[in-house]
Amino acid sequence: CALIKRELLHGCVAGVCRYPLGMSGGQIQDEDISASSQWSESTAARYGRLDFEEGDGAWCPEVTVEPDSQKEFLQIDLRSLHFVTLVGTQGRHAGGIGNEFSQMYKIKYSRDGSRWISWRNRQGQQVIEGNRNAYDIVLKDLEPPIIARFVRFMPVTDHPMNVCMRVELYGCEWLDGLVSYNAPAGEQMSLPAYFNDSVYDGAVIHSMTEGLGQLTDGVCGLDDFSHSHVYNVWPGYDYVGWTNESFPAGFVEIMFEFDRTRNFTTMKVHCNNMFSQHTKAFRQVVCYFRSEADWEPTPLVFNPGEDEQNPRARFVTIDLLHHMASAIKCRFYFADAWMLFSEITFQSDTAMYNTTLAPPKKDDPTHKVDDSNTRILIGCLVAIIFILVVIIVIILWRQVWQKIVEKASRRMLDDELTASLSIQSETLAYTHNQASTSSEQESNSTYERIFPLVPDYQEPSHIMCKLPEEPGSTAASKATTTTIVQEGAPHYAEADIVDLQGVTGSNTYAIPTLVMDLLSGKDIGVEEFPRKLLTFKEKLGEGQFGEVHLCEAKGMQEFMNTEFSFDIPEEQTVLVAVKMLRSDADKNARLDFLKEIKIMSRLKDPNIIRLLAVCIYSDPLCMITEYMENGDLNQFLSHHEPEGFNDLSYMAAHIASGMKYLSSLNFVHRDLATRNCLVGKNFTIKIADFGMSRNLYSGDYYRIQGRAVLPIRWMSWESILLGKFTTASDVWAFGVTLWEILNFCKEQPYSQLSDEQVIENTGEFFRDKKRQIYLPQPELCPDSLYWIMLSCWRRNTKERPSFQEIHRALLEMHP
Ligand SMILES: *[C@@H]1O[C@H](CO)[C@@H](O)[C@H](O)[C@H]1NC(C)=O
Ligand SMILES: *[C@@H]1O[C@H](CO)[C@@H](O)[C@H](O)[C@H]1NC(C)=O
Ligand SMILES: *[C@@H]1O[C@H](CO)[C@@H](O)[C@H](O)[C@H]1NC(C)=O
Repeated sequence: CALIKRELLHGCVAGVCRYPLGMSGGQIQDEDISASSQWSESTAARYGRLDFEEGDGAWCPEVTVEPDSQKEFLQIDLRSLHFVTLVGTQGRHAGGIGNEFSQMYKIKYSRDGSRWISWRNRQGQQVIEGNRNAYDIVLKDLEPPIIARFVRFMPVTDHPMNVCMRVELYGCEWLDGLVSYNAPAGEQMSLPAYFNDSVYDGAVIHSMTEGLGQLTDGVCGLDDFSHSHVYNVWPGYDYVGWTNESFPAGFVEIMFEFDRTRNFTTMKVHCNNMFSQHTKAFRQVVCYFRSEADWEPTPLVFNPGEDEQNPRARFVTIDLLHHMASAIKCRFYFADAWMLFSEITFQSDTAMYNTTLAPPKKDDPTHKVDDSNTRILIGCLVAIIFILVVIIVIILWRQVWQKIVEKASRRMLDDELTASLSIQSETLAYTHNQASTSSEQESNSTYERIFPLVPDYQEPSHIMCKLPEEPGSTAASKATTTTIVQEGAPHYAEADIVDLQGVTGSNTYAIPTLVMDLLSGKDIGVEEFPRKLLTFKEKLGEGQFGEVHLCEAKGMQEFMNTEFSFDIPEEQTVLVAVKMLRSDADKNARLDFLKEIKIMSRLKDPNIIRLLAVCIYSDPLCMITEYMENGDLNQFLSHHEPEGFNDLSYMAAHIASGMKYLSSLNFVHRDLATRNCLVGKNFTIKIADFGMSRNLYSGDYYRIQGRAVLPIRWMSWESILLGKFTTASDVWAFGVTLWEILNFCKEQPYSQLSDEQVIENTGEFFRDKKRQIYLPQPELCPDSLYWIMLSCWRRNTKERPSFQEIHRALLEMHP
């Protein structure tokens, strides 16, 4: 929220300003959509709305579009200036009858309806790649974004072709009201760095006139002007700049023209201040205002003062003292040899209102009561609420989707279990395909892709975990499938397992119902902790229903069981991990959370993170577990190299010991890895579970079509292909964890393979044709230890060692 608010206030809005402007939603009226021509009444311009199936399903021009003629266009009048950041196009599908679409197109735009400008991307290209079929929506970011009232889509072809289009524009209203700025052309520094305004859409001769460009493209420059947010451009790209050598008067004059007379509150200028390169923000600015036809005689003068301490790029805010103007002319005085600007924004009284809804009346007394701060605040709050609503819609929609995919994959697993004796690989592969098709279709919605604030915004990958093709003859495959089920069977029957969804991740603890029953009869063995004694430090992880925070707790000793003692003096604060259920979580999630508390409270082992206390008398529900100041093992090892092999095998023995304890309770961890182990004093290790969505480790997880995220590089073949998680699959993960440790966590397992290749390699494990790739022996790793790893990765789960055996073997190596 803080980030969004800051961006809204400061005007670097390109990232948040991505709302559909109303072609598909209907806010744009039919009469505001026009075209150069139409094939028939039923393919008129008004049918060119994205995702609409009315009429004959799209707008189609009268004639075939020829490669060199660019006469045809579909035009949208937005009625006021808008900041457009994204466009979407689609062909004519018409329920399967239509098959016309535009493979390429150009965009033209206009602010006043008379001067039309061809859009170009930052590399100067005009043509945008369009659709490949008649139904998929293709979205394209406009880099740079455009500020316009009228937008035209112009189909382009490389051979004569019938085209039809449906379109949408995404963006938001252009509240600044700025129509153009005129300024001297940007100059070149000998470094070299080029400060020309390369996206300026007006005329550039000696100076720039009648256009908008980099100063309004929503992108703020970086502290070091020679770097850029934008890929593959020249140094100095984000800034427009001038040197005092060319301006003997000592200032640069920029003139700003607006759409109407406005009551101005502030102007914000984003300036570079890299004084080591003789670049500073301006020393003084003098602004003149023109309201009707005349310039006001007395200018406004503002001195920001020079800053030689802080080299960061910054917004300088100039209070415009409620001057009424339709044009502003400002003289910016040099403070050093160079002056570089990347953005200039204006805030005016009407700016925070949707003027078509609430035009402020001059004599209305109620408007005088508001002061502008309240208005800005209200504007921001409305924007934030709107964004939250969008996020909630996305979350709800994702949940529905997830359920569909889960159902599909569960069906897949059920088939595989019940029909295990007679089933053939084709059938399985077929079910897989079905699952993947249904989720691909689901991923076609626009909303997933247009909103970049959702952390897992990404193009859906088209690879589901592919089941390997059939090994050998049908008879042979029957035999293999049978053995899978036998060897995959855990030590207890599948039906006795309760799946418990951990709140922080998609991982599930599987424990026998028997244990569950025992637990439910008793109270939880931990005390309630007063929330106010917790101080937030940082967020460690996050999942669908909750978050894990690192906190400091005061007076923890009083609340802890006597059997468990911390070796720290009383009164001192201790670091704890606080797993918290979102207060909006549903009933099932709450029940699961309470169950998780019960289970956790029974886990007592020196190598397992302990539950210390809980907050369950009020929302949000919390469980407070130990945390150790050395952080997780992955971070620890990649920053400190321990003395040598002995320390490493000692830590591995701790992990094996903790896992031995968990396996004795038939507790399956499902996400054993160095990132889930904490390091205490003298290299003691405790196993924890932070869930699967820590940003730091997002690369370790593979996202199956928006469903679960899975740590595939740590998972056994049977977990990936058959969804079976057992102690034996934990043993596999232990082998990978051991490999990480011996590599000082410097390398991700199978780092040379892509996620898809890892899954393919899993298929090789299943086929067992000796084509599977094993993780290589780390440099420091003695043969005996590598042999343990290899035994953890045996195909047959029964041939893998137990944690008892692994623990014993490691202790023997490290007496
Ligand atoms: C701006 O300068 C760069 C680097 O010299 C050059 O490649 C580009 O064409 C210039 N753009 C304009 C619009 O002048
Ligand atoms: C501009 O806005 C301020 C604050 O809302 C108000 O006090 C002032 O009267 C306005 N100026 C004009 C000329 O309307
Ligand atoms: C430009 O600025 C530099 C640094 O302040 C100064 O030394 C130089 O004399 C100025 N040049 C002109 C032409 O004003």
